[in-house]
Amino acid sequence: MKIIKAKDYEDMSRKAANIISAQVILKPDCVLGLATGSTPIGAYKQLAAWYEKGDVDFAEVSTYNLDEYRGLSHDDPQSYHYFMRENFFDHINIDLNNTHVPDGSNPDAAAACSEYDKIVAAAGYPDLQLLGIGNNGHIGFNEPDDHFSKGTHCVDLTESTIQANSRLFDSIDDVPRQAYTMGTQTIMYARMILVVANGEAKAQAVYDMCYGPVTPACPASILQLHTNCVVVADEAALSLCE
Ligand code: GLP
Repeated sequence: MKIIKAKDYEDMSRKAANIISAQVILKPDCVLGLATGSTPIGAYKQLAAWYEKGDVDFAEVSTYNLDEYRGLSHDDPQSYHYFMRENFFDHINIDLNNTHVPDGSNPDAAAACSEYDKIVAAAGYPDLQLLGIGNNGHIGFNEPDDHFSKGTHCVDLTESTIQANSRLFDSIDDVPRQAYTMGTQTIMYARMILVVANGEAKAQAVYDMCYGPVTPACPASILQLHTNCVVVADEAALSLCE
């Protein structure tokens, strides 16, 4: 694991965007694995600004997102489909047909998940997978468990995740209780993994990810076994790591 310390959120976002843009410049038709949550928004903004300047071109890029809430339509403002358009896709020249997010609107979980596994495998898995990290060490929506997950599957969100994500909903009761998420094994198939984290609330999860035992109790800890994983985190998120 390579750890890159950033001064603050802005610096973290620029450093992460630099790594993503390098990937796109080196391989214009690359496959990007993308993440939602507040953490990557700054990197998406920076990439959109560089696209506007003509420094990076997404015309041939294809993307596969980690996860989606179960039961939300693609146009629901709380859905990750909507989030990705609002925060990234609508601001760059990506072909929307080349962007993919698990289909939370399909109530048939087994069908939605196996369909997603097929298309991610057919794409050859991401060249670069961007990840945020939950306060409890989750990646995608792979929550702490007694085993690591494999392919895309339906999960029951933990109280801690429902609580953390409720800030984006009118009320905690509106937070969906289930999600479809890429599995940990699929995440590990990416050729490169880039984790972004900021703020003190992530300090324990970042420490456990980087230095704790490799255990499904902290799903992100498995990233210690990936041969090309870079963590870009600000000083507050790395405060327990010195
Ligand atoms: C959600 C997403 C994760 C994300 C995590 C942290 O649960 N499914 O992919 O990493 O939240 O989000 P944030 O970046 O807002 O702290």
